[in-house]
Amino acid sequence: EMMKELLGLSTLEQRLQSKLGVTKVIVVSGDSDDNDWVKHEMGRAAVLELNSKVKAKDVIAVMGGTTLAAVASMMTADTKMKEVVFVPARGGLGERVENQANTISAEFASRAGAEYRLLHVPDQLSEEAYSSLRLEPSVQEILALIKSAAVVIHGIGVAETMALRRNSAAKIKNHLSDDEAVGEAFGYYFNKNGEIIYKQRTIGLQLDELDQNKYVISVAGGHSKAKAILAYMKNCPSDVLITDEGAARSLLENE
Ligand code: F6P
Repeated sequence: EMMKELLGLSTLEQRLQSKLGVTKVIVVSGDSDDNDWVKHEMGRAAVLELNSKVKAKDVIAVMGGTTLAAVASMMTADTKMKEVVFVPARGGLGERVENQANTISAEFASRAGAEYRLLHVPDQLSEEAYSSLRLEPSVQEILALIKSAAVVIHGIGVAETMALRRNSAAKIKNHLSDDEAVGEAFGYYFNKNGEIIYKQRTIGLQLDELDQNKYVISVAGGHSKAKAILAYMKNCPSDVLITDEGAARSLLENE
């Protein structure tokens, strides 16, 4: 804490809390766009936050991405995690296997000494496949677990970057740029006012299911994500934002 004072990080945290309207903001030093270890520092902070909230038998839903992969890699074993279950918050979103929510949820569980459950849903789902898959008993079982999650940990991305990374169709990319999408989280794309421009079809947690009963931990850093973070925080729930100095300073510019 004293170190944070010296680095001026506490001031950044307070300013961000009031700018974004988030109750709690944690800023780690550095910029994850420039140095990869910064993601691990955000990961360390996220693990502390998670451990302070989680109770025996809780379900923890996690999203994918490189930031969440770094968070999972910092997870530590804890006896109270024994009966905790990690689940992916949503199904396939076109990520590489190491960045998929399923993989990351299993990684969290194995490091924590917890349980995990997989959600097998292909990336490209037709309307028909989506409707029938949702009715599968095995899918329904894990969906019920996901919806019961006490804690949700997710990343936030730059809209254009995410559409490219997911090899989205040209039609979708055009739609996103025409409607000025800036941020993405949970498979939802937002404009700068936080309005949903496009939603990727997949099974799992829907944005409007992130209610008061779920403790939402948002983890995103790097100066390039400033606009995306701001867009997400306009309308979407977050109980704590864990970010880095790069994103924080960029978010507070021109104030
Ligand atoms: O695709 C999963 C996801 O969590 C997205 O919702 C988010 O935009 C992205 O990953 C963040 O990825 P990264 O941490 O690699 O920037």
